[in-house]
Amino acid sequence: MIPFAFIRPALHKLAPETAHDVALKGLSWAGPLARLAASTNLQHKTQLFGHELLNPVGLAAGLDKNGDYINGLGRLGFGFIEVGTITPRPQAGNPKPRLFRLPESQAIINRMGFNNKGVDHLVKRLRCHHFSGVLGVNIGKNKDTPNEQAADDYIACLEKVYAYADYITVNLSSPNTAGLRDLQAPAALADLLGRIVEARNRAAEQHGEHVPLVVKVAPDLNHDDIPAMADVIANCGIEGVIATNTTIQRPQVQNQQHGNETGGLSGAPLKPFADDTLARFHAALPAEIVRIGCGGISNGQDAVDKFQRGAQAVQIYTGFIYQGPQLISDAVQALKAAQVS
Ligand SMILES: Cc1cc2nc3c(=O)[nH]c(=O)nc-3n(C[C@H](O)[C@H](O)[C@H](O)COP(=O)(O)O)c2cc1C
Repeated sequence: MIPFAFIRPALHKLAPETAHDVALKGLSWAGPLARLAASTNLQHKTQLFGHELLNPVGLAAGLDKNGDYINGLGRLGFGFIEVGTITPRPQAGNPKPRLFRLPESQAIINRMGFNNKGVDHLVKRLRCHHFSGVLGVNIGKNKDTPNEQAADDYIACLEKVYAYADYITVNLSSPNTAGLRDLQAPAALADLLGRIVEARNRAAEQHGEHVPLVVKVAPDLNHDDIPAMADVIANCGIEGVIATNTTIQRPQVQNQQHGNETGGLSGAPLKPFADDTLARFHAALPAEIVRIGCGGISNGQDAVDKFQRGAQAVQIYTGFIYQGPQLISDAVQALKAAQVS
């Protein structure tokens, strides 16, 4: 994709977080370029939660945490976009630097820590975007909310975004909020998801519309816990799983610059762990639960691999940072050629 290939070297000379911000801001004035980028064949129609999608390739959570760039990102050709993670109150996140590029591995390590402008800001953005694809909202808890009160934070976000979301993702898998991943343990999960589903059911009655709930899981789970987690998810009224978030493992990257930074590793080295987790959830979940594959997609075949492990849709983040919108059409073309959808 000529435009992105042209600007990438300049962007990658900037500090990683600055480059992220510059690229996202650029999307608002680069509408024509973005449309050019999206002009390759991006059609591979499919369904997600009963909505028709242009294609099953989505943007993963974390790039547009506050919903500030939905229109610009929407022009790039994603079938669906997930904004967030958003928390009830704004929070600054961890001190910088907290985002590191590992170009040799096409990877990123981040310890952003849910930096976001709070759910009220996101709601303002959700009221006025023009993206016509499916829009998911990823919700979390504030850093200073103890796990015993985590449900209150998730419910506060759910109630505020409910009217504007096509699906809502309960993020329990960021490694950068201390203790968050403990909420994935089957007993804690049953309690938390039970309360969130109750809140969703109340909202569904109030709004006259049923918004599906999705759980985003880590690639670092104890394998023995996955069947029990899948049972909880299936039995409490959750409709989908995103596998996976970033990993705290450090495959292949220890000897590279930044390879031992604290945080979550994403991109190519994550793929085997994310694929394995997806396959394990696929095996353990009943057919009606939607599986979304995420983690380490760097080319079209990687997207096909997710479908072969049970995914019905995929999400990308790090590959998109390195390759730009070309990766969306590469994934779409590969899925079409492999005749998976
Ligand atoms: C800088 C950065 C910030 C992220 N922030 C979030 C977040 O706020 N919420 C979330 O659920 N996932 C977040 N993620 C994880 C991604 O959504 C995705 O699950 C992960 O990066 C694996 O996909 P990838 O290998 O295609 O990047 C973040 C990832 C990166 C690299």
